[in-house]
Amino acid sequence: MSQYIFDNTTEEREFQRLQLVEAANDPTTIRLLEETGIQPGWHCLELGAGAGSILRWLGNQVGPTGLAVGVDKKTTYLHHDDSPHVQIYQGSFLDVPLEQSFDLLHSRYVLIHNQEEGAILKKLCSLLKPEGWAIFEEPDFTSATLPDLEQETPQGRVNRAICEMFLNVGLDPAYALRLPHKLQEVGFHIVRVQSLMHLCPGNSPMAKVMAESALVLEQEYIKTGLCSPEDIQQYVRLSKNSTHWSLYHSTTSVIARKLMM
Ligand SMILES: C[S@@+](CC[C@H](N)C(=O)[O-])C[C@H]1O[C@@H](n2cnc3c(N)ncnc32)[C@H](O)[C@@H]1O
Repeated sequence: MSQYIFDNTTEEREFQRLQLVEAANDPTTIRLLEETGIQPGWHCLELGAGAGSILRWLGNQVGPTGLAVGVDKKTTYLHHDDSPHVQIYQGSFLDVPLEQSFDLLHSRYVLIHNQEEGAILKKLCSLLKPEGWAIFEEPDFTSATLPDLEQETPQGRVNRAICEMFLNVGLDPAYALRLPHKLQEVGFHIVRVQSLMHLCPGNSPMAKVMAESALVLEQEYIKTGLCSPEDIQQYVRLSKNSTHWSLYHSTTSVIARKLMM
């Protein structure tokens, strides 16, 4: 089983980082979830629920006649309000026994962290009801290296180190680019794919997420040999400058269904 790259940070820092991930991505995710026509009574699964904003949103949409299930290896950050229609399971997804079947599955920034993503996708597909909906959102970190192909910059070196760090632990920094094909292979029907480049100014939620990740993972980035401590300092400095725009990564979101032939 792959280790999650943020396992070694403190709980308080990881909680703050996860909340920044939510601030940066929730508006897009909620628009995508609304496209499915989610309704009271639906059964939904949030894989890798993190700090829980999307699990709570799903719980509110489906109401007491529905079910919102959140699964995460670490559930410390999932503050539960005791509504019986919101259930939380702690554990690695492949080890969590789930009996229900679901109208809607959602997962964001989870598969890229798992070497066993193929088995996870198969299990997810088996848990989806016929005609059910699934939305997967994953990053591509190689996109961030595009502006620096012709010119060396501290940010370019940090972006290449991020990609190398994933490769060094057997993970794919461009996982998002393979996602539609992988989903098709396990039996999902692809409805729509969108990719969003995170070209963001300093001080934006995405700039803050990436700066915090760089500070937490500094030693991992440096270990790749592709960037220096000074490069990381400059990367973090620019992330606080609201007149400086950076391309951080892109996120590919796939809306899929399980169609009965
Ligand atoms: C980058 S965070 C994203 C959190 C949340 N999905 C979001 O976008 O706000 C990844 C989360 O997935 C969880 N995770 C990763 N692999 C998992 C697995 N195999 N089973 C359960 N949870 C997993 C991690 O513990 C972490 O909370």
